Order: sequence, then C-alpha cells, then structure tokens
Amino acid sequence: YLSLEASQTWILYWIAHSLNILGRKLTESEARGITRFCLECRTEQGGFGGGIGHHPHAAATFAATSALFIAGTVLPEAFEVLDRRKFLHWVLRDLKISLPEGAAFRVTRDGESDVRATYCVLATASLLGVLTEELASGVASWISCLRAFDGGFGGEPYNESHGGYTFCALASLRILNDSGFLSEKEFESLVNPCRKWLLLRQRQFEGGFQGRPNKLVDACYAYWIGASCKIVDVEFNASALARYLLRYCQDFETGGFRDKPGSDPDFYHTCYALS
Ligand code: FPP
Ligand code: ZN
Repeated sequence: YLSLEASQTWILYWIAHSLNILGRKLTESEARGITRFCLECRTEQGGFGGGIGHHPHAAATFAATSALFIAGTVLPEAFEVLDRRKFLHWVLRDLKISLPEGAAFRVTRDGESDVRATYCVLATASLLGVLTEELASGVASWISCLRAFDGGFGGEPYNESHGGYTFCALASLRILNDSGFLSEKEFESLVNPCRKWLLLRQRQFEGGFQGRPNKLVDACYAYWIGASCKIVDVEFNASALARYLLRYCQDFETGGFRDKPGSDPDFYHTCYALS
C-alpha cells in the first residue's frame, strides 16, 4: 500500500462506494472515521490532499467529496467538512488555466493538466453546487481538442486515446450539458465520433473491455468504458461483460475483484467492477 500513500481519500471512496452498491449501509462509526480522516486531509487552500499533510489535489478532492457524500447519508456532520466557497476559490485561483485550445485545469498548483483534472473539478463543483459560468467557460472547447484519430479521447491534446480519459471527457461533457453550458446539439456532435471506438473495446473472446486498442481486457474498464457507453447510449453485450467479471475476476477465496485472472483483488478494481 506504500504506492497508495497519496491516494488515501480514494481508498475511502472505493470502499464506501462498493459497500453502497452492495446495499450495506455504513455504520455510524465508519462514517465518523471517514469524516475525521477527510477533515485531516482538508487544506487551508480549499481542496483536499490524498493524505494528511499533503498538498491539495483535484483527484483527491473529488474522492474525499464523494466519500463525504456517502458518509453524510448516515452522519449529516460529514457535509460540514465541505467548504464550497473555498473549493471554488482554490479552483479558480490555482487550477484553472487558459490554453490556446480553451480552458483546462491542473491537478494541483503548478501540476499537470489533463482531462482527469477537468472531470474531477467539474464533478466536484457539480456535487457542491458551485459549477459557475466562470468555472465552466472555455472547458468544452479544450475537451474537443482531445479527440484522437481513431475517435477516442486522450488525456491531453495529441495523446493516444484511452478508456479512462474517454470516460473523463464524456462525463465532463455530460455535466456541462446537464448544467446548461453545452447545448444538446453541441454535445451530440462532440460525442458521436467515439461511439464506434467504445463498442470496439469489448473483446469477443473474453467478454470484458480493454482500455485501448491492442491491449488486454481489465475489470476496471467495465466502468470506464461501460459508463461511457451509458453516457452516450451505446449498447454493449452486458451478459458477456457480467460473465467476465463474475466468473473470471472474482477472487472466490478472499472476495473482491481483480483486473484479470492471475492478479490479486484490490479496492480499486472491486469498486469499478461493481460500479
Ligand atoms: C494506462 O495504464 C492507464 C492510463 C494511461 C490512465 C487511465 C486513466 C483512468 C483509469 C481514468 C482516471 C480517472 C479519474 C477520475 C481519476 P496501463 O498501460 O497499465 O493500462 P492499459 O494497458 O489497460 O492501457
Ligand atoms: Zn484496471
């Protein structure tokens, strides 16, 4: 778990969300644990770090916010850890940048800017009810420059298309559309070229999804590609996918899901296989 040192708020989210899907309500003490830990990861600037004493990061903030929303269903004081105004101020001051292609976000001050940051900022802002015009302006235009030659979306302009980043791009466009910052017509013209690319990610033999052409199937793409299909109404073979997950990715001794036979199960793949 040393490699997950900076992803501790994600671990809370992966576990809380998995339990939520399984219909197992958090206990009050679990919700209190999440609340206390997130409070310790909260920074002066407004976002959350991935661990105690870490710099604020867009992905750690999205994970902490999501975990707190789940904890808040059994312990309302979890919501008090969230400071909407400070979050918005931090995003506009430290993360939002203007590029020739439009507006993007950095994951942290002076950090890299990719569509993961865009999705994490938009999703958190939407959850917190602070998705303002100032935050959203120019973002759809930058996302439109992420399309690769094969129809999928890459993480940054001119990158290879990938299922993880394609999800971030499509979910961001849907949030912008839902919030009135992108018309249905513009949304449709931006998403249509990736429908065939999404469908081709389901492998006939295994039934699972791969994240990019010529790579192996992996359980987590059941979410990154599967949710993308849902966002743009693409129908995939759900029973073949279920068979891959339930029969080949479950660890029948320890429980949990793994990316593929031969690997060990982990919280990340368990969360996204269930999702
Ligand atoms: C390739 O790894 C993986 C990436 C390039 C990043 C994938 C991005 C995500 C999963 C999205 C993250 C989104 C959020 C909201 C944090 P690999 O080469 O090991 O895997 P592959 O062979 O399946 O491409
Ligand atoms: Zn995976």
